[in-house]
Amino acid sequence: MKIEFLGHSCFLLEGSKKVLFDPYLSGNPLAAKKTEEIQVDYILVSHGHGDHLGDTIAIAKKNDATVVCVNELGYYLEQQGVTTQRMHIGGKSEIDGLKIKLTPAWHGSGICVEGKDAFSYVGPPCGFLVWLDGFCFYFAGDTGLFGDMEKIIGRYQIDVAFLPIGDWYTMGPDDAVLATNWLQPDTVVPMHYNTFDVIQQNGALFKAEIENKMDTRCVLLEPGQSFML
Ligand code: NI
Ligand code: MN
Repeated sequence: MKIEFLGHSCFLLEGSKKVLFDPYLSGNPLAAKKTEEIQVDYILVSHGHGDHLGDTIAIAKKNDATVVCVNELGYYLEQQGVTTQRMHIGGKSEIDGLKIKLTPAWHGSGICVEGKDAFSYVGPPCGFLVWLDGFCFYFAGDTGLFGDMEKIIGRYQIDVAFLPIGDWYTMGPDDAVLATNWLQPDTVVPMHYNTFDVIQQNGALFKAEIENKMDTRCVLLEPGQSFML
């Protein structure tokens, strides 16, 4: 199983299936790949904000990939001609050896269309638990810290947790340390930092905090870097 970081909150899991999270590539100065280079079976989209929905439509159409997301965002994507698997928080699916459960996230969600005076609502944001090839992944999406994380998500044996640490829009490093302590994953990978000015963080400090305080390994990835499980 290869885990590749493509920038911001975009990760590609390459096992028996290729699963992509939150493909914000064009428009992201730090993106590691171009939209056309991506090969994928499933795209999991946490919410409608541009830095997560990103190039979902183009990549889904080119690859004939299925987009997994909440119902309302899925409805919007279907209107754009995309194949979707519309689910909701707390629900899980198991198709073809890929198991997915939608988890809560404390954030906003909407699509900003130029010329319109408000965001178009596309349901609540979510996170994802994903089981593939015997590994369990938790992708938190954009969220603040919430206590139910421990009860709802921490009850699973998580191999890799992807947590935002950028602060301002999401959890900062301090709250992400607490989240990691609750979740007890084997590995934590910080995301959603350094892409913009207001979310600059020191990844090395976060890693030191984690590895000094608990039994979890912290893997820092630059866009384009990957690691294997
Ligand atoms: Ni967001
Ligand atoms: Mn975001």
